[in-house]
Amino acid sequence: MPRRPFVCGNWKMHRTVAEATALARELAAGLAGEARVQVAVAPPFTALAAVGAALRGTGIELAAQDVHWEAQGAFTGEVSAPMLAEVGCQHAIVGHSERRQLFGETDEAVRRKAGALLAAGIRPIVCVGETLAEREAGRTLEVVGRQVRGGLAGLGAGALASITIAYEPVWAIGTGRTATAAQAQEVHAAIRALLRELGGDAADAVRIQYGGSVKPGNAAELLSQPDVDGALVGGASLAAPDFIAIVKGALR
Ligand code: PGA
Repeated sequence: MPRRPFVCGNWKMHRTVAEATALARELAAGLAGEARVQVAVAPPFTALAAVGAALRGTGIELAAQDVHWEAQGAFTGEVSAPMLAEVGCQHAIVGHSERRQLFGETDEAVRRKAGALLAAGIRPIVCVGETLAEREAGRTLEVVGRQVRGGLAGLGAGALASITIAYEPVWAIGTGRTATAAQAQEVHAAIRALLRELGGDAADAVRIQYGGSVKPGNAAELLSQPDVDGALVGGASLAAPDFIAIVKGALR
């Protein structure tokens, strides 16, 4: 079974509710009828409900950028998986490198967050990726392997059916430096081999997105690789024409 490409826009800390709603409407108009690619957008928490309402019935899905692993409690500033489910999130990003680097998110936190999402019926997009220093030290596959194992440990064999992995080399995020298609494919194939070790044939159906300076000009080549099944797009997802072009470039 070929894997349906999955492209998610990560809007990070950009867009007010009014701006986010306008962007969602532009995307919906530009992608109307495009069912061959699964598309989601991840606005800031404050805009989730409004963007979800604007996207209802369009086929574009809603993602959150983070989540807390507890369902409720004294965790000032945090948002739980049931809260995200209530506003219509089908996906949530966990373990983004900005969360790992700037907010101290660990593999253990990623695993707990992924578990909480699955329990709430939300599909985790688990981000992994090496820093430049790690790549230059020849440690890419070791680091990414540790993050995949650590992020998925103990979630159970069935979890793979609901999980997306996003391989995002840290040195390529927001830098304009993209991994070459061959560099991406090498890591994606290694991730798929590890998923097969963890979950058998279910690994064949898991989408592995590439992220890091994906643009209209490089999306098609990256996505033509056999184990690159989509993209997690930051900067270029804030410009509707660029994001639409990336989605169209994902068709293969
Ligand atoms: P970028 O971000 O496309 O701006 O490099 C990707 C990401 O952080 O998900």
